[in-house]
Amino acid sequence: MASLTVRKLDDAIKTALKLRAAQSGRSVEDELRVILRQAAFEDSAPLPPAAAPETPSPPLQAPEGRYRVTLIIGGGIAAYKALDLIRRLKECGCEVRCVLTRAAERFVTALSASALAGSPCHTDLFDPTSEFDAGHIRLARHCDLVVVAPATADLMAKMAQGLADDLASAILLATDKPVLLAPAMNPAMWNNAATKRNVAQLARDGRTFVGPNRGEMAEANEAGIGRMAEPLEIAAGALTLLQPAQTQILKGRRVLITAGPTHEPIDPVRYIANRSSGKQGYAIAVAAAAAGADVVLISGPVNLPDPKGVKTIRVESAQEMLAAVEAALPTEVAIFAAAVADWRVAQAGAQKIKKGKDGAPALELVENPDILATIAKRATGRPPLVIGFAAETEHVAENARAKLARKGCDWIVANDVSPATGIMGGDSNAVQIFIKDQEAPEAWPAMSKTDVAARLVARIADTFSSSTESTPAS
Ligand SMILES: Cc1cc2nc3c(=O)[nH]c(=O)nc-3n(C[C@H](O)[C@H](O)[C@H](O)COP(=O)(O)O)c2cc1C
Repeated sequence: MASLTVRKLDDAIKTALKLRAAQSGRSVEDELRVILRQAAFEDSAPLPPAAAPETPSPPLQAPEGRYRVTLIIGGGIAAYKALDLIRRLKECGCEVRCVLTRAAERFVTALSASALAGSPCHTDLFDPTSEFDAGHIRLARHCDLVVVAPATADLMAKMAQGLADDLASAILLATDKPVLLAPAMNPAMWNNAATKRNVAQLARDGRTFVGPNRGEMAEANEAGIGRMAEPLEIAAGALTLLQPAQTQILKGRRVLITAGPTHEPIDPVRYIANRSSGKQGYAIAVAAAAAGADVVLISGPVNLPDPKGVKTIRVESAQEMLAAVEAALPTEVAIFAAAVADWRVAQAGAQKIKKGKDGAPALELVENPDILATIAKRATGRPPLVIGFAAETEHVAENARAKLARKGCDWIVANDVSPATGIMGGDSNAVQIFIKDQEAPEAWPAMSKTDVAARLVARIADTFSSSTESTPAS
């Protein structure tokens, strides 16, 4: 199958594509998939089920505009991630007004931020069109939260000192609202004594931090603490500050989630894997933590950072995942979103298997433990609500119903992961929830994985609140 490099499209197409993606609430990649699907099936057979429908996915945690966020984008490499953060905040029901520092404008454009936010963005403290009535005070006060992402070393130094010589710092000095800072900088800058002093001062001043995380830097061969938290984590941090305590719908509940693929070794350097990205499981962990749950995430090998406020345990194989799950019990909810390998190699080589004159080695496969069934059928210590995922490429409903009965779980979240849907590894999902003793499944429209997570968490909380039994009502 041919691949397409977006960089090689001309600028007019890229801009139109970004605007179209922003309007439909999809990533550019998902938008491209939708366009290609439409073109491929034009005048031919009816469209197979799509990952992202023509209509934008409905906002789930809150209707847009329920919260007002002033997002200050500082001048660092991570500014590009702030554009995704605008979308994530909007998915959480936030109306976003953006402020770019002069330095930020060197990294991303005010046009992109405005198009994604759906409102003009602000850059200049002395702008006559917005300052005739002290616009910076409006941006500082007529909001529920101020988020700074990326929070540069420079911006935090100014905040710690109370400087106000540009629009961003003037807003930060004038605001009486909570402020969430997502620092991002080179590890040497983060570890500098001056930055440490400023961060400590800002924490004493009541500012909240999300990140920075450990990881690779944009600079070649540099790694350490300094990467900006991922947009999903920042949005979850924002929601925690925005939501009053009563919306902590899973407060005090212990929730276990598995995510990602497993790697089954063939020898010390080779393994059998699958295409699971872990995005859906991680999004559920973030949503459950934002809803106040005590979350344990047991993750196979994925390329995602540990979500903030979630106890994350990394494992490789199905056997390790089962051991970690059993060690994490008891929990009230167990959600098995991981794509666990059905088989492993019976005798993984202790050393790298070498090519020989006898041709390719024969790999004998044996069945892996069935983690979902093992936990759902426990005689003692079974979580009251056990939820499995069914990733199917055909006969989704039939297979999901059979899985629900065979595994002994309470719900199955089924999705069609055939390549045409773009769900595996993508940012969208279209799921049906099959519930024990309930005839018809709940079919949810296609939406972002963040939205699926939020809606699933709300559905779980509903189940607990409507149940007086130890096993939640379905
Ligand atoms: C290529 C490049 C990357 C930069 N990345 C960062 C960064 O990640 N974090 C940071 O604190 N400063 C970074 N800086 C330095 C800031 O851009 C500089 O301190 C600027 O004055 C910050 O302005 P602001 O705080 O008003 O946005 C970078 C500078 C350049 C040229």
